[in-house]
Amino acid sequence: MKFINPNLNLLKKSATLAINEKVNTLRRAGKEVYSFGLGQSPFPVPDSVVASLQECAAEKDYLPVQGLPELCKAVAEFHARVDGITYTPQQIMVGPGSKELLFIAQLCFAGDILIPAPSWVSYAPQAQIAGKQIIYLPTSFESKWLITSETLEKICLLQEVPNQPKLLILNYPSNPCGVSFSETELQKLVKVARRFNVLILSDEIYGLLHHQGNHVSIAKYYPEGTIVSTGLSKWCGAGGWRIGTFAFPKQLQGLLEAMVVVASETFTSVSAPIQYAAVTAFRGSDAIDAYLFNSRLILRVLGQWITSQFQSISINVRDVEGGFYVFPDFSFYKQKFEKQNIVNSLQLSYFLLDKLGVATLPGAMFGLAEEQLILRLSYVDFDGTAALSAITNGVEVDEKFLYTYCSKVVKGIHLITSWLTKLE
Ligand SMILES: Cc1ncc(COP(=O)(O)O)c(C=O)c1O
Repeated sequence: MKFINPNLNLLKKSATLAINEKVNTLRRAGKEVYSFGLGQSPFPVPDSVVASLQECAAEKDYLPVQGLPELCKAVAEFHARVDGITYTPQQIMVGPGSKELLFIAQLCFAGDILIPAPSWVSYAPQAQIAGKQIIYLPTSFESKWLITSETLEKICLLQEVPNQPKLLILNYPSNPCGVSFSETELQKLVKVARRFNVLILSDEIYGLLHHQGNHVSIAKYYPEGTIVSTGLSKWCGAGGWRIGTFAFPKQLQGLLEAMVVVASETFTSVSAPIQYAAVTAFRGSDAIDAYLFNSRLILRVLGQWITSQFQSISINVRDVEGGFYVFPDFSFYKQKFEKQNIVNSLQLSYFLLDKLGVATLPGAMFGLAEEQLILRLSYVDFDGTAALSAITNGVEVDEKFLYTYCSKVVKGIHLITSWLTKLE
């Protein structure tokens, strides 16, 4: 199209945001919608972090492009405490959401971008906008939807220009699949990445929402070649605050500096009050630890309940290990779906929204073939504040808890499973 950068060819508004808008429109029209679309934390921002924001509301100056020094220090200390990796504050960069940093990183990187399929909806469009060559790494239900070292090796060997720099974007616990790597799997990946000089951009935004609380950063095994991405959107419930952080190895100082140049010419710096408040979040506290413990507990029990509901009616779904997503494969119902004219994941998703009022995202939006009858469900349509205070008041997190505090999620899942079991 005239006047439009050809890199934007065929790109549409981010799929997750579009479905959320459709849900809101249906709700405004008075329709009951069970929302499994947008991946937004159901939990409130911890009180101490909100209080810091209130105290810092008058902070009005532009801050250094790379980030408020006090915050960079807090983020460095966070990674030392949480991941056991040492960074200086100068190795940290703060941005308006990790999404923006992920984009700028791809823009500044000279080389190809390796993206697992399926993966988060925005990596590939970002690479496309930045004009990068994308190389997809296939995964499967059998590989737990995670890339294997064998696949990475095969792709690296296949490249026409084997020495062309490569940036692999990893994400775990994963959106859309809710799965995570074991330490052995990470070590195997690192071996291949080192051999072929593949840099890793490790999107660990759900790290603190690993359901057992034992997320391990790949940077532990590949410190010289990994950039770790995190932020406050998921574990701290602050998606709308728009703050994310990158931690760079000393070896990638040049890339950090290039990103700072782009930041200085675009967003300048993240909102000052948000950065001051983020210091409190990254420093952590006993109260924040308790908040995290309880958030994970709810997400674990609810995730297990959903997967067991699905598994009991022959839906292939991996157990959830972190975050708040499930990625069920409905192909067992393929023939019955055909009678309803449902032959791909888009049609399945639209059918569920129109007929049952259940909003999901089609697997095709995450890089799968359309005919794979897979959906991503984000199980966050519940009042996280009420659920957390129930735990604080001694309520046990069991099935009864889910029926009381996560009733819309329970109802939405029941709508899907009872529709499926009645299909002829
Ligand atoms: C895997 C993944 N990475 C990055 C982001 C972006 O997060 P933010 O820009 O809010 O830091 C999201 C948000 O949904 C995500 O799911």
